[in-house]
Amino acid sequence: MRTHHCSELRSSDIGSEVTLIGWVKSARDHGGVIFIDLRDREGLTQVVFHPEVSKEMAELSHTLRDEDVVQVTGKVEARPEIDGKPTSNPDLPTGEIEVSATELKIVNKAAVLPFQLDKELSNEDLRMKYRYLDLRRNRMTRNMQLRHRVSKATRDYLDELGYLEVETPVLSKSTPEGARDFLVPSRVHPKCFYALPQAPQQYKQLLMVGGIEKYFQIARCFRDEDLRADRQPEFTQIDIESSFVNQEDIITLIEGLLARIWKESLDVDIPTNFDRLTYYDAMNTYGSDKPDRRVGMEIVDLTEELKECEFRVFSGAVAKGGVVKAINAKGFADISTGQIEKLTKTAQEAGAKGLAYIQARDEDRTTWRSPFVKRMTDEEVEALRTKLNIEPGDLILFAADKWADACEVLGRIRLEVAELRNLLQDNKELNFLWVTDFPLLGYDEEEGKWNAVHHPFTRPVAEHEEALKKGELGDGLLAQAYDVVLNGYELGGGSIRIHEQDLQSAMFDALGVTEEEKETMFSHILEAFTFGAPPHGGVALGLDRIAMLVAGESSIREVIAFPKNNKASDLMTSSPAEVDFKQLRELRIKSTVADKPKE
Ligand code: AMO
Ligand code: AMP
Repeated sequence: MRTHHCSELRSSDIGSEVTLIGWVKSARDHGGVIFIDLRDREGLTQVVFHPEVSKEMAELSHTLRDEDVVQVTGKVEARPEIDGKPTSNPDLPTGEIEVSATELKIVNKAAVLPFQLDKELSNEDLRMKYRYLDLRRNRMTRNMQLRHRVSKATRDYLDELGYLEVETPVLSKSTPEGARDFLVPSRVHPKCFYALPQAPQQYKQLLMVGGIEKYFQIARCFRDEDLRADRQPEFTQIDIESSFVNQEDIITLIEGLLARIWKESLDVDIPTNFDRLTYYDAMNTYGSDKPDRRVGMEIVDLTEELKECEFRVFSGAVAKGGVVKAINAKGFADISTGQIEKLTKTAQEAGAKGLAYIQARDEDRTTWRSPFVKRMTDEEVEALRTKLNIEPGDLILFAADKWADACEVLGRIRLEVAELRNLLQDNKELNFLWVTDFPLLGYDEEEGKWNAVHHPFTRPVAEHEEALKKGELGDGLLAQAYDVVLNGYELGGGSIRIHEQDLQSAMFDALGVTEEEKETMFSHILEAFTFGAPPHGGVALGLDRIAMLVAGESSIREVIAFPKNNKASDLMTSSPAEVDFKQLRELRIKSTVADKPKE
């Protein structure tokens, strides 16, 4: 007899004999008769142990505790009526039937669990320490199943289009992807280190030189950076590269992939042909290169209108070449002083000096609450009214600063207002977006040099190739780079690449890479480009972030089987951990840095 899943029995099985194996979800004593829900990954079945069937079995059933693993053989029966009322459970696929046990075998007893599996637990550390128990909960089982669907849909889709999945090394060489590397010491080559890949960027480009033409990999990547809800030190990319393609080809490919993923994981149809915004427009209108457009509150420019304002914060900023921008938080004029203070703090953390505001309580401007509105002319107030569509009950928040800073501050403020007002609660909209036309280079004031906005292998637009070659650098140079965004999350990013040695070399020059560094760090790729390298481009999507959004979760930890906590530790295995002196000696590593002080 085959063992059945705990989810599969139906009325049509009534009368048949079955064997089930699984976990005791809950054991209930109904006047000496024990009922259990027997659970496996797929679902549960109610099992009842009648003393009249077997006294011995019924006695054993009294010893059952939650999470014991048991095997039950018995007969499928319709759930009876009691006092004329049905005992069936319409919410459960197996709710029409129960199994009347004839045999019970306790396969393995469970100790009392550190937490209950059917309650949400706020203590995430405890969940992580016992992750193998946490994974038994419905929510986590579903998340693991959804994540599997995402990977499977990806593999199927790309395979059908002729992409080959190729693995690339994990013990590799440092790639300048922008974060800090994890290093692995080499025993064979003392003082030498491998770096774990931040992304398989150079390998996938070298696969193009190798004639693979269409590559993908569900690739593990490692970045030693600060953790957040959507960032882990090790994470997974859907990494893609293709020869002889342009930006439109990649965009079409990825829209098709995302549509396939949502269809196969949730049976949801997403419309392709996502909206597009240039980087400049995204920053100017939403103050972010990954805007969440589900909350309106677009940023409005008031530089012209307020350049002569008597309120010095505004006119002064304009006089220094800056801008005045504002958002209308509709209907939020009743904001509390505490909330204003909180928003001001956020603005200050983002680099602003303050956060000017108007609480437009009524039509009449004399009723408006604001530290400065008295100092504005009627024309200025009317311009605000029109441009910001101010109606009674609105709250207007201002930033007066350099363009980039003003945009960024209001970008943060609009998201915080959305949060304060619960604007996105229960919002099921999927707002996909492409952000394009990124700058090629960004100036780092601290380092006093230009950095690649995407990465050093990204191609400038054709019109700006010459300027790069001539070393005429500036943030006006545009890249053939694109990001795909969903509801304020950067799902992925990519670019068309440089495939010529001279252009790549010019790019390294722009980034201040010396001739010697070119030789030691990049000679492989520079040389590869001299042997008939095909034009190519690609993209990488964050698989964890996609799975998180598919699952409706707000942290990627919920879709990773064994994630790290926010201190980059795995609490289950207690890693990272100190290693044996002998291991260090073999690696010829000696600590020359004092121990970290105890916290
Ligand atoms: P990028 O650095 O933008 O591009 O990474 C691509 C995508 O990977 C995801 N991601 C992360 N997810 C979880 N935790 C992290 N720490 C993390 N870092 C990145 C994001 C991001 O959009 N080689 C290039 C791609 C290319 O040019 O083809 C790259 O890695 O979803
Ligand atoms: P002050 O005149 O410095 O008292 O500031 C008056 C108001 O303007 C306060 O609400 C400040 O938070 C705000 N404020 C100050 N600097 C700026 C700025 N650069 N952008 C927007 N608001 C500001």
